[in-house]
Amino acid sequence: MTNADRPVVITGNWKMYKTIEEGVAFVRELIPLVRETPRMVRLAVPFTLIKPLSDVAKGTNIVIGAQNMHDATEGAFTGEIAGKMLIDAGAKFVILGHSERRLLFCETNAFINRKVKRALSDGLHAVLCIGETLQQREENQTEAILKAQLFECLADVKEEQLTHTSLSYEPVWAVGTQAATPDIVEAGLARLREWLAEGWSESISKHMVIQYGGSVKPDNAKDFLDLPDVDGLLIGGASLDVESFSKIVNYKD
Ligand code: PGA
Repeated sequence: MTNADRPVVITGNWKMYKTIEEGVAFVRELIPLVRETPRMVRLAVPFTLIKPLSDVAKGTNIVIGAQNMHDATEGAFTGEIAGKMLIDAGAKFVILGHSERRLLFCETNAFINRKVKRALSDGLHAVLCIGETLQQREENQTEAILKAQLFECLADVKEEQLTHTSLSYEPVWAVGTQAATPDIVEAGLARLREWLAEGWSESISKHMVIQYGGSVKPDNAKDFLDLPDVDGLLIGGASLDVESFSKIVNYKD
């Protein structure tokens, strides 16, 4: 199987950017630019934008999601948000385990695992991010780290639930800096598919959508989308500008 058999998913991760007014204007402008694409278009937006952007994107091929959630259904967790609240606001998916959450907010694989399980049982599609730091790569820890993140973040997640999950390989050193090389990305993704087959099944390994994230721009998107194991892109900085984001969505072979 090659990536021709899996959907191609282009996800924008807006991080902590944009007001409601800016977000609505962006989506209104984006709708006609991506209407014809066969690719899936997702935007992971700040919590305040989920409801207004879901309303604007209704009936279009743009899917709105969140960048994080808590693992409890409700409770005394000041400042947190539950999966059901995200769904209530219109979110269809949630990014979990982003390296900024891991590094700046001390999220562990165990905590991310609880979030993944809650997101899936709530009915959200989970996009699990994994990736090694530069130090881990330099110490030849990359494989061990990626494997541990995959198995620990997806512990006890059943095969049927994994059909509502996708992965994003984001080497931490490539986020917001300089993209990884295609060789590094393909090697990482090929290993992820081997481990998915080992831990779950050949079918999961073949059907799992795996995106690459890390300094993707209109002029390097092709390098990654051409790789046999890459099924899409998770884009931070370049997703904030409607022209560069739509160029990546509409990239032609
Ligand atoms: P970047 O961010 O495209 O700005 O490197 C990617 C990400 O953090 O998901």
